[in-house]
Amino acid sequence: MRKTSRKSAAKPQVKPARKGIETLVRKDLRKLETYQPIVLPGALPTDGKQPDGRLIKLDGNENPYGCSPRVQEALRVYQGYNIYPDPDQRELRTAIAAYAGVDSKYVLAGAGSDELIDLLMRLFLDPGDTVLNFTPTFGMYSVNAAVCGGRAINIPRRDDYTIDVEDGLEAVENNTKLIFIANPNNPTGTLTPRDDIARLLKTDAIVVVDEAYYEFSGATMADLVAKHQNLVVLRTFSKWAGLAGLRVGYGIMSPAIVQRLMAIKPPYNVSVAAQVAVLESLKDIDYLKGTVKKILDERDRLFVILQNLDFMTPVPTESNFILCKVIDRNPKKMRDDLRKQGIFLRYFDTPKLKDCIRISVGLPQDTDALIWALRAWEDYQ
Ligand SMILES: Cc1ncc(COP(=O)(O)O)c(C=O)c1O
Repeated sequence: MRKTSRKSAAKPQVKPARKGIETLVRKDLRKLETYQPIVLPGALPTDGKQPDGRLIKLDGNENPYGCSPRVQEALRVYQGYNIYPDPDQRELRTAIAAYAGVDSKYVLAGAGSDELIDLLMRLFLDPGDTVLNFTPTFGMYSVNAAVCGGRAINIPRRDDYTIDVEDGLEAVENNTKLIFIANPNNPTGTLTPRDDIARLLKTDAIVVVDEAYYEFSGATMADLVAKHQNLVVLRTFSKWAGLAGLRVGYGIMSPAIVQRLMAIKPPYNVSVAAQVAVLESLKDIDYLKGTVKKILDERDRLFVILQNLDFMTPVPTESNFILCKVIDRNPKKMRDDLRKQGIFLRYFDTPKLKDCIRISVGLPQDTDALIWALRAWEDYQ
């Protein structure tokens, strides 16, 4: 028998961990209320499909027409995937600036506007600083504030989901660093008038106007950025340009903020694939504007049909989705039951939205299938 050395015979000593992972996590993050992202089709055992095998995805405000076909081709032939992107985003910022009608020194791109929301919070929030938020609104503002050591102050919107600027102004404290307004607002689709935003700009806080759905609403504050150092406009290529999966958005803001964000952002935050896709999209604006128009036409058709269902009251919208009040029916059950048939809608278990369902605008055949399924569903309630 081979002699085993004393060393190898010894039992491996595993040092008992002195602290669990949880005790190492930042104290203020241990009970973080996380953002509830959409649950991808196929993730639940109960997920179904349409009789023809299709999925009707109306829960993410994505573009049902996809990106420009030119983007697909540009990504296929691009040769430089082995090289890091330009940290200063020169070509990208120049192209975006030309599209947005501003000088490139006012522009910064991010991995989705989500990244820019995060970077702004990191830049401006000291521990305990506050972020004003008009709720219900896009959930990332309050989650990100908490992640960055700040605190969201939620100002409830009125019953018609408009904002009361007086309430906002009263809530501003010395340590309020940021005010977020999604315009149009997600998930309500409502717009805040320019004059109201202008009043908020008179405070010392940075006012972030999130125009993720700008191409659908046509409303913007971008023309005021040169005049107001504290105004930041955020936009994205996720919705109108059909690039949600590639993650690219941008901000228009004073060059001083651009420089500060440049200094703290990860150097290669926007991938070369995303850059190729944006540059090509901006060469095919007519095509993309055409799909935006189709979505808007379909939204108007869907709105009227929903109005005619006696258990749904759609909220007037300036975006590519429609929030509906569900009358005397359970919207969560509606979401779950339609999911089993391959139709995906968005439900939010949060104040002022518990009796609502949000429907993204899809293709005309998606609308037809949705309405058929909703009518059948209602018969069984
Ligand atoms: C209001 C609003 N802002 C920002 C985003 C994030 O967009 P992006 O895909 O550019 O990160 C969304 C996405 O749904 C949104 O609705």
